[in-house]
Amino acid sequence: MLALAIPVLGICYGMQWITHTLGGKVEKAERREYGRAQLSVDDSKEPSGSDLFTGVPASLRVWNSHGDHVRTLPDGFRTVGRTENAIAAVENPDKKIYAVEFHPEVNHTERGTELLRNFLFRVCKAEPKWSGAAFIEETTAAIRQRVGNKWAICGLSGGVDSTVAAVLVHRAMGARLTNIFVNTGMLRKNEFEQTLEMLRDRLKLHVIGVDASKRFLAQLKGVTDPEEKRKRIGREFIAVFAEEAQKLQAGEAHGEIRYLVQGTLYPDVIESVSVKGPSATIKTHHNVGGLPEKMPFALIEPLRDIFKDEVRRIGKELGLPEEILVKHPFPGPGLAVRVIGEITRPHLVTLQEADAIVVEEIRRAGLYAKVWQAFAVLLPVRSVGVMGDGRTYGLTVAVRVVESDDAMTADWVRLPGEVLERISTRIVNEVAGVTRVVYDISSKPPSTIEWE
Ligand code: XMP
Repeated sequence: MLALAIPVLGICYGMQWITHTLGGKVEKAERREYGRAQLSVDDSKEPSGSDLFTGVPASLRVWNSHGDHVRTLPDGFRTVGRTENAIAAVENPDKKIYAVEFHPEVNHTERGTELLRNFLFRVCKAEPKWSGAAFIEETTAAIRQRVGNKWAICGLSGGVDSTVAAVLVHRAMGARLTNIFVNTGMLRKNEFEQTLEMLRDRLKLHVIGVDASKRFLAQLKGVTDPEEKRKRIGREFIAVFAEEAQKLQAGEAHGEIRYLVQGTLYPDVIESVSVKGPSATIKTHHNVGGLPEKMPFALIEPLRDIFKDEVRRIGKELGLPEEILVKHPFPGPGLAVRVIGEITRPHLVTLQEADAIVVEEIRRAGLYAKVWQAFAVLLPVRSVGVMGDGRTYGLTVAVRVVESDDAMTADWVRLPGEVLERISTRIVNEVAGVTRVVYDISSKPPSTIEWE
């Protein structure tokens, strides 16, 4: 029997689990509910209406993803919402147990955030006290206490996550932190030089730049499987960090390096870690799952419990330049997961050139800060083209531009035709070996943002 002293909100499988555990009935549905559905809220307009649905319309577009339905409610529960096929929201206000079959946390669900706010602030009576300043203070104090007088290195990439992590830990440890920025050879065009300059000159961080592109490329020779790419890259990162740590420790007046700082976020944790239950490992994001089991460092991940928008707020509070705050996320394995199939240096260069055009045109259209990510993917698919009088037979570039709040879900951006046209014309004209450009019109779910 479920005996809980605190309020509970079950989502999706959580609703089925609560129903089943408290004596209701869950059955396999004849029709799996997947994707968009219309929710009718039964009693939101009544004075005694559901706390969860207070202030939201009686009909909402929601996002579903489940194959089982709740058939009979446990004692003490009532139905407060339905879709065409299923009971979609139930509650037992006396016990403060609420459950919804759809996903309020994804942005395909209308007013989903309001439902979550209602649960937190109306049902749980929580107070919205989170602030960037308080987070900075608590986190730096906790790091100071944890590390004592030990030293640390930080795997810095110049993205907002690792830069915020580095600045936070720098506040806590000062000169006992050294940042290491590795050129894997799979960064964007000119990214290594430009980022290094910004981190050193503008942010005044102590950064060692390591050009390890040859060894990363050697590790990836002949590898086509995305997870294998991630694992090899994760291993090589740790090998580079360990070597750099050794060199630092050999220096005068340098203490033992015990910690590795990383800018891992909560979505990385969720999507990388296989938990018991219905969600499988989606991708072993190298920040988390792609790391070798045995590591010479303990991890410090100060952003592990938070989302990107919160990281940006903290970054602002820490005084980071806008340029870093609005920078699009870039995966740790970089272009390795955007060259589909085997990675070769010529293909990396082709992708870098095409990708630079995509980003340039998105900036030129004033869209850079408005979209979540914009990038190119190189497909190992050749097709026939005609240029001048000649026949060509070149590769394909896929352009991916998505909007999102946290990368857990994403929608493709309806780019203006002129922007798509400029991107396509420029890539085919300026990037040797590419004959065709396609635009990716898939949302997440069911597709992921990266192709691999
Ligand atoms: P997916 O492709 O899983 O991506 O929808 C969600 C977000 O995570 C980024 N991503 C990664 N980040 N290491 C990272 O550090 C990785 O292996 C990795 N794979 C995907 C992706 O760019 C998107 O923002």
